[in-house]
Amino acid sequence: MRQAGRYLPEYRKIREKVDFLTLCKTPELAAAVTLQPVDILKVDAAILFSDILIPIEPMGIKLEFSESKGPILYNPVRDEPSLLRLRNIDPREDVPFVSETIKLLLKELKVPLIGFSGAPFTLATYMIEGGSTKNFLNSKKMMYQNPTLFCKLMDKLTVMVISYLEAQIDAGVSAVQIFDSWVGSLCPLDFKLFALPYVQKIITALHTRVPVIYFAFNGSAMLPLVKQSGADVIGLDWRIEIADAVNTLGPGCSVQGNLDPCILFGTPDLIRERASHILKGAKGAQGHVFNLGHGILPETPVGNAVSLVESVHEISSKER
Ligand code: CP3
Repeated sequence: MRQAGRYLPEYRKIREKVDFLTLCKTPELAAAVTLQPVDILKVDAAILFSDILIPIEPMGIKLEFSESKGPILYNPVRDEPSLLRLRNIDPREDVPFVSETIKLLLKELKVPLIGFSGAPFTLATYMIEGGSTKNFLNSKKMMYQNPTLFCKLMDKLTVMVISYLEAQIDAGVSAVQIFDSWVGSLCPLDFKLFALPYVQKIITALHTRVPVIYFAFNGSAMLPLVKQSGADVIGLDWRIEIADAVNTLGPGCSVQGNLDPCILFGTPDLIRERASHILKGAKGAQGHVFNLGHGILPETPVGNAVSLVESVHEISSKER
């Protein structure tokens, strides 16, 4: 999960020369930064370097990544005309660099490559709010005042996500992850009404082809509903004991997670202890993909990230 990025001096060196969107859209560079954490940290899988907002630009959204404010979407979708103006994208034509990056990576990689997309709800909040937000007021206003419009936007995004992930699968990724970073802002009933059906549709369309990981950030309070997504693997943030999550999800479930990224600011001994706690806690699951519970922070000491991967490898090899 966001294992490439600014904490790596090698990444910052490339970013000195190009802006973030250019980096995502230039296959040679996107491939190079995808490989950096694989080479430096020795992780067991690569995640494609891109961003969840990349495919919404060709839908007709003017997008910028500001150094201070994060993503800015200049023409948010808040009414019927702006919704009708959104295009249906053809990933092969509109984001060809994504498949090209994947193809370049497959020539180099000795570990599996994970593709990804934002989930419709999370993408909808960016489109409606025009950027990051604290309380999701514009999104919730649309949900409660004009649910038909909200659901039309969700339908459009669902079609886009399916074709976008299909293109990544056609290009050769081994698994896909759906990031629902802001779905934890919803109460369980609204998750069930306004987010879950769309994720289910996407997973039904794809998971016969490759395993699908669904990450509902801040969603531990509604894990039984998250399970209903039908995902092959449930991604977990650090706010839940992984053993409790495994217990709630029940037999046959696989999980991904869930170390607090801030543990990487502790000592190597603490990091090892906490990695061990998570590996033990996930023992009852059908499968476990060790991961951070959210993206790595830019201030993270690289040596500590290396030490985490070493600890996970060492502890899990002993237990085999
Ligand atoms: O590790 C990897 O190679 C994966 C690449 C990846 C990025 N974004 C690169 C990125 C992935 C999987 C994402 C997903 C993403 N993007 C999510 C879902 C996961 C999550 O964190 O919840 C979300 C919500 C976004 C939207 C986004 N992108 C924000 C809010 C920001 C600004 C905040 C920040 O950290 O700067 C980004 C920018 C971004 N995406 C960066 C990277 C490496 C930093 C850009 C830079 O180089 O300046």
